[in-house]
Amino acid sequence: MQNFEFHNPTRILFGQGQIAALAKQVPAGAKVLMLYGGGSIKSNGVYDEVKAALSGHAVLEFGGIEPNPHFETLMQAVELARREQVGFLLAVGGGSVIDGAKFIAAAALYEGDAWDILSKGGKVIQAALPFGSVLTLPATGSEMNSASVITRHATQEKRGFMSRHVYPVFSVLDPAKTLTLPARQVGNGVVDAFVHVMEQYLTYPAQAPVQDRYAEGLLLTLIEEGPKALSQPDDLAVRANVMWSATMALNGLIGVGVPQDWSTHMIGHELTALYGLDHAQTLAIVLPGIMQVQREAKRAKLLQYAERVWGLRDGNDDSRIDAAIDATRRFFEQMGVPSRLSGYGLDASAIDAVVTALEAAGSVHLGEHHDIDSAATRAALTLSL
Ligand code: NZQ
Ligand code: ZN
Repeated sequence: MQNFEFHNPTRILFGQGQIAALAKQVPAGAKVLMLYGGGSIKSNGVYDEVKAALSGHAVLEFGGIEPNPHFETLMQAVELARREQVGFLLAVGGGSVIDGAKFIAAAALYEGDAWDILSKGGKVIQAALPFGSVLTLPATGSEMNSASVITRHATQEKRGFMSRHVYPVFSVLDPAKTLTLPARQVGNGVVDAFVHVMEQYLTYPAQAPVQDRYAEGLLLTLIEEGPKALSQPDDLAVRANVMWSATMALNGLIGVGVPQDWSTHMIGHELTALYGLDHAQTLAIVLPGIMQVQREAKRAKLLQYAERVWGLRDGNDDSRIDAAIDATRRFFEQMGVPSRLSGYGLDASAIDAVVTALEAAGSVHLGEHHDIDSAATRAALTLSL
């Protein structure tokens, strides 16, 4: 195991009715800027519940943060936060709204060109406004991590940043608030969480059995509970387990002391930037191909994954690896997320465009061994045509 330092300061308030706790969690006397997306919170009652909990606070609002949030939109909120001298942000929504809040929190206190925050991966951030979140879509883990992904609409650039200054102070996770999700977003969330675990697990053995078994436990839970969230959409216990799995998948814990990959995400971000695919849709396309082109480098972990996650014990090593990759692709499809470019009306021209975009961004040494170059990316995507 590698050396590591782990500190996650986000307080989690989990369960039904926890939105009421906002009254105590949001600092008294702070001017609050409530952030939200395209309006789902207004039609499912979350907006009213949050406003009721904050009836004793001064609350301003900024809605309209889009999925894959735009730099251009968020800069309007930054101006509002500065002009009104806002002291606390509250993100109410999915990963896009929470990621947006992280950017607004940092940009509001940053004196240079705000795009620096993204072009330098968060290194320029010295401070950020404090913020909390009310999560309505389990998927990204943004509610308990320090990462954010923002798109500059004008140039179709999707860039991430990380900073210890942008952990949420608290996050409310009420599984009942996820019951209104459309099936597409339920499927997306499960696939995103699954791939987060894979990015931190499917590398090479690092003598880290605790991390491995946490990761396998999350994968098994997502495989068991994910399909139930589609077939039994009113089952709150299922939603609770999906929600907690997604948070645990990317709150840093399973990734401590182990190598990490993240190539699937880097390639997937370009597919979203170029063609507007949902984040999880891109992951379902990319991961099976990456597993295949990396089968030698990832051989030991692929065999462990095949046995412990999919129970594959028969046949030779190569056939078990093939079966594990097939099972992974079938799971994504079972969650209603097509795993081929053709499923989204895309063809080989998209592969050229993605490779060109990755080269322009300098993202040509991806993966835990930095060996996923343009040729490997091309090969992986070709397997998912
Ligand atoms: O905008 P509204 O009207 O709220 O509707 C949203 C949106 O259309 C809707 N929705 C959310 N909660 C709902 C609901 N509809 C009905 N009922 C509810 N309870 O769902 C749609 C998608 O929302 P979005 O926030 O975009 O989805 P998600 O949570 O999947 O976030 C995706 C974004 O997170 C980034 C992705 O790149 C993408 O931009 N990621 C962030 C990460 C992080 N911070 O660590 C890691 C991830 O790998 C990912 O890259
Ligand atoms: Zn993701």
